[in-house]
Amino acid sequence: MLFANVWYIAEWSENVSDAPVKVKMLGREFVLFRDLDGKAVCLSNTCCHRGASLAQGKRQDDGTLSCVFHGWRFNAGGQCTNIPSQLNPAADIPASAKIDSYPTQEKHGLVWVFLGDQPEKAHPLFDMPEDTDPAWRRVTFSDTWKANVHWAKMVDLDQVHLHIVHGIPLNEDNPSRPSAHSVEWLDNGFRTHLVSRPPPPSGEWAKLRQGRTEVNSHLTFYLPGFTLYGRIQIGTPDTSFTNVFYSMSTPIDEENTKMYLIAFRNFMLEPDKDKDHLQRNLRNVYQDKAIAEAHLPKRAPDIPEWPVINVDREDLLMQTYWQFMRELRGKGWQIDRLALDACERNGEVRVLPSPARQADPAHWVYRPVPFVAAEA
Ligand code: FES
Ligand SMILES: [Fe+2]
Repeated sequence: MLFANVWYIAEWSENVSDAPVKVKMLGREFVLFRDLDGKAVCLSNTCCHRGASLAQGKRQDDGTLSCVFHGWRFNAGGQCTNIPSQLNPAADIPASAKIDSYPTQEKHGLVWVFLGDQPEKAHPLFDMPEDTDPAWRRVTFSDTWKANVHWAKMVDLDQVHLHIVHGIPLNEDNPSRPSAHSVEWLDNGFRTHLVSRPPPPSGEWAKLRQGRTEVNSHLTFYLPGFTLYGRIQIGTPDTSFTNVFYSMSTPIDEENTKMYLIAFRNFMLEPDKDKDHLQRNLRNVYQDKAIAEAHLPKRAPDIPEWPVINVDREDLLMQTYWQFMRELRGKGWQIDRLALDACERNGEVRVLPSPARQADPAHWVYRPVPFVAAEA
């Protein structure tokens, strides 16, 4: 269950340079590089001439990317600008000599790519205010999970597992029962707020909060980057010591996910506290990873059918998440994986359609991936 027309994270900014790199997202291959202005460019990776991998090519002095095989040059918009073997290389260029180019944005050390053809309908990127505020200290981590993106989000959004898996008691009366919470819809996701009374944090963080007191947790799911934002109170209400995390997920394909973590703290700002801060966040991440990677089925069903025992507490966030996915499907943005499997078994290259296909749907060498029909 993969969706186009979403902003996804393609790479950390620091890993994108003049030298092209191949990135797999939504089961497709893309090439990332920087143009002469330093702007990140994302093109479909398969050359429209004979199917070479453009990531094996070279960024030229004119800012174009040249193909490794016959040297065709493509600009940031995906248009072929030069065919060296032609009598007139810069002019004798057929209309279909172009490849899909996808909008990019760079924010907070991440290269974001809009994978789809309808950017005007995009759910907007969220901001990361802690990143530009010196009161916060940042740590980062990334990993590849052998799990589909929805299982990766399920171990983020699920509440009961916080106690069962991570040993974080949710309440004094019943440590496995989430406190009452409700969901508020946003233009790019949904959020909730939970109050609990867990014991103090462990280790060095224990001095931040003694005894049981009310602890606030704010959680937001943002569709861009399939992101779970968490703002977890660590100290007492009067100190505002807080751990913030952004757990972001890019589907590599139906069964694998690239995970990006950025966490912030507004206490113990010394750099030598970074390791402990990251490890506290990663301890939970690794426990979640083990569960998500063993989860069946490997490909998430369109509409999971599971026993629901406690919609208002246990399942509220995941029910909301599945509703969100149903809405994306209704817009016609879900890749039809069975139809796509058949195309690929037939030897076809199918690509994610880019915005340029709206103006010119005809002159393309590769056809777009098939989509589940939009609801009327
Ligand atoms: S395969 Fe790319 S230029 Fe020929
Ligand atoms: Fe978890």
